[in-house]
Amino acid sequence: MNNPFPTTQYFGRETFCDRESEMRDVISNIRNNNSTTLTAIRRMGKTGLIFHIFETYKDEITPIYVDILSTNNKSDFVNVLSTAIINAVPEKTTLGKKLWKYFKTLRPVISFDPLSGNPQVSISGSEAEAENDIHALLTFLNNLDVRVVIAIDEFQQILEYPMQNMDAWLRTVIQTLPNVVFVFSGSQRHLITQLFADPGRPFYRSTQILHFGSIPKEIYRQFIVDQFNKSKKLIPVEIANSIWEWASGHTYYVQLLCNRLFANCGKQITRENMNREISKIFQEQEVVFYQYRELLTKPQWNLLKAIGIENEVTTPTSAKFINDHQLGGSASVLRSLKALEIKEMIYSESGEAEKKAYRVYDVLLKRWMQNKFRMIK
Ligand SMILES: Nc1ncnc2c1ncn2[C@@H]1O[C@H](COP(=O)(O)OP(=O)(O)OP(=O)(O)O)[C@@H](O)[C@H]1O
Ligand SMILES: [Mg+2]
Repeated sequence: MNNPFPTTQYFGRETFCDRESEMRDVISNIRNNNSTTLTAIRRMGKTGLIFHIFETYKDEITPIYVDILSTNNKSDFVNVLSTAIINAVPEKTTLGKKLWKYFKTLRPVISFDPLSGNPQVSISGSEAEAENDIHALLTFLNNLDVRVVIAIDEFQQILEYPMQNMDAWLRTVIQTLPNVVFVFSGSQRHLITQLFADPGRPFYRSTQILHFGSIPKEIYRQFIVDQFNKSKKLIPVEIANSIWEWASGHTYYVQLLCNRLFANCGKQITRENMNREISKIFQEQEVVFYQYRELLTKPQWNLLKAIGIENEVTTPTSAKFINDHQLGGSASVLRSLKALEIKEMIYSESGEAEKKAYRVYDVLLKRWMQNKFRMIK
């Protein structure tokens, strides 16, 4: 029996928890030819959600997934996108035959990935030619009798490209493709906000932004209990609840702890098991945590520690917070706060009614700090 709590990739509907309402929103957008932008903090489950939607609605859509994190410019983008398109449709199918026949007229350079054996495409020629080719390929998809959905993951990467007009170009292309629906996804919320919500940028209001947070505790804990039960293992619901709490509802960390408990413990999961697995994870990670300390200035590290210990901080420049943690002046705190946010060591989020709150990004680091510095909140 495989571990029912994967911590990497997507392994099908059996191991996936909830996200029903997010799925409904996205599929409704797809059916109505509107694009969606998924945003969430890192490791909350954006990529998993895309794969889950693709799996769930595979009879209705022709899904194409592309991760552009490794791309540095428009040619890279065109190459990974055409590779994804070609790999999404098996050559043997009727659709695949049509696609390949058409694709070959673009005279791409096709090589084969030595590991997977999958074709890899590079469209040679000038940038203008590559642009025309990808546009032609997308137009071909647009004119087919199937609903093509293209998910572009790590979309904020286009902001790193040297040309300024990438989003303008893409927007123009997309506007000519009424039957191809896009799902953009990105982790760095401010970048997504910059691309999609700033009236000066071409993507402004052209996509529905769907920001999502934790899977609700009641749903996740039941899922945990059920997953253990399926393998004839028992976990009390209170412990499942504590796992969610310990992970602050952050998907990857819930999965990680459940994965370890499933792998290393017997048929009856106890609180001691949970505590022991947490200590083991801390031990493994400690080197990394001390590395963080080396990479930060002393005021930054102290502020990070203070936010970690507090769990969340809404008034980082208040006299109480500064005094409690001996952080010096408020100007220095603001400087460090900004630096930590840019380095993605912390993130800030504000709900509808609540104030903006700062939290440590890495839940393991946060819990380790709380443990190490003995001020558990
Ligand atoms: N709803 C879910 N149920 C069970 N496991 C999930 C769920 N969502 C995500 N996961 C698992 O959590 C881990 C992190 O999820 P994922 O990689 O999708 O996050 P992400 O938001 O794309 O992260 P990043 O910003 O780093 O790309 C994955 O291993 C995935 O298997
Ligand atoms: Mg991802």
